[in-house]
Amino acid sequence: MTPKWARNKKILLGISGGIAAYKTAELVRALVKSDCEVEIILTETAARLVAPLTLATLSKRRVWQEADLRSDEMGWRIPHITLSDWADVMVIAPCTANVLRMAATGNSSTLLGATMLAFTRPIVFFPAMNSHMLANPATKGNVRTLEGFGHRVVDPDSGPLACGYEGKGRLPSTEAILDETWAAICPKRDFAGRKVLITAGPTHEYIDPVRFISNPSSGKMGYALAAEARYRGADVVLVTGPSNERVPSGVRAIPVTSAQEMQRACLDELQDADVIIKAAAVGDYRARKFSPQKIKREKAEILTIEMERNPDIAREISARRRPGQILVGFAAETENVMENALRKIESKGLDMVVANDVSEDGAGFASNTNHVCVYFSDVLSLQPTPIFGDKLEVASGILDRVAGLMA
Ligand code: C5P
Repeated sequence: MTPKWARNKKILLGISGGIAAYKTAELVRALVKSDCEVEIILTETAARLVAPLTLATLSKRRVWQEADLRSDEMGWRIPHITLSDWADVMVIAPCTANVLRMAATGNSSTLLGATMLAFTRPIVFFPAMNSHMLANPATKGNVRTLEGFGHRVVDPDSGPLACGYEGKGRLPSTEAILDETWAAICPKRDFAGRKVLITAGPTHEYIDPVRFISNPSSGKMGYALAAEARYRGADVVLVTGPSNERVPSGVRAIPVTSAQEMQRACLDELQDADVIIKAAAVGDYRARKFSPQKIKREKAEILTIEMERNPDIAREISARRRPGQILVGFAAETENVMENALRKIESKGLDMVVANDVSEDGAGFASNTNHVCVYFSDVLSLQPTPIFGDKLEVASGILDRVAGLMA
């Protein structure tokens, strides 16, 4: 899902000569699908690894190559200046050790080098190389220099490398590259320096080794909040029940299964959190006795499972939190939404509750869109504020309200 504010952005993609260059065709496609305009600069080696024609076809534009820097035909338009003036953000993926050095030292001897030097907005670098090259103090020094310039240098993934090594140095996934690009151009940075603890997804309360009691929560709302908070600069910890959603790049996920595990993880992370958002659909009950063996259907016509109440994590956090920590809860209701939301603020000690009628079309569990109302503990603001849209837009609206509560 692309955030609304990321649509129609002008992206200048610099592709340098690492083997991962072949993956950039997918990246260009994803950027175009996000309604972005993409101009591409290929280094000489990159042009041997990925066909300029492929990229030109996908971006629907000509691709800029080394010869364009000094060609008689293009020279008068000064491509490196025209391109750098045009773009909102530069993305260098994959970024070789050499291009990293060129950027850090202001080397303008190539088209890509000259364009980076002329560029005045954020540059996001995606280094991809052999692990020893990455760990070399020379590379590390270049990374620090670029970060010092205010650019973003994204840590590579770990795994099998083209050189035969196993380790750090892989180009991150296309989705992660998009996440980091959006984070670099996000118009709001109001969560920079804040730790946001978010819970998401359902819990699974096992009754025997192969069966559990749960609910249809997909985790989409909590994951969208995690992505949006991260774009806005937060340090995000996502305590997540079982979910098929992708963890946004830069978000630290703590996977849990049961409500009790979720409780422990939340309490471990609570101390230095500035904001806690409880978007998880926590199971209210768990089996009183877990059967270590599979329950056999032949044994009984009617099966009675005795259940006991799970801890109310939100209430416990509210009791333990220190002054200034903001606690936000969710209320998924099928009737009397406002009444139930206000009762929840009171009984759980929340600062704010995000309420939705899950029986409505286009809202609630597993839906890509949502329609919520936000209520605050402050009685003066009883007037609910509705937020509609895809879950990223709703997440953005919720975080706007949270930002309003932050000191
Ligand atoms: O009581 P109810 O489940 O409707 O309240 C929903 C809110 O409380 C959500 O924010 C949910 O994450 C949180 N909750 C919790 N622990 C529970 C049950 C709900 O933190 N055991």
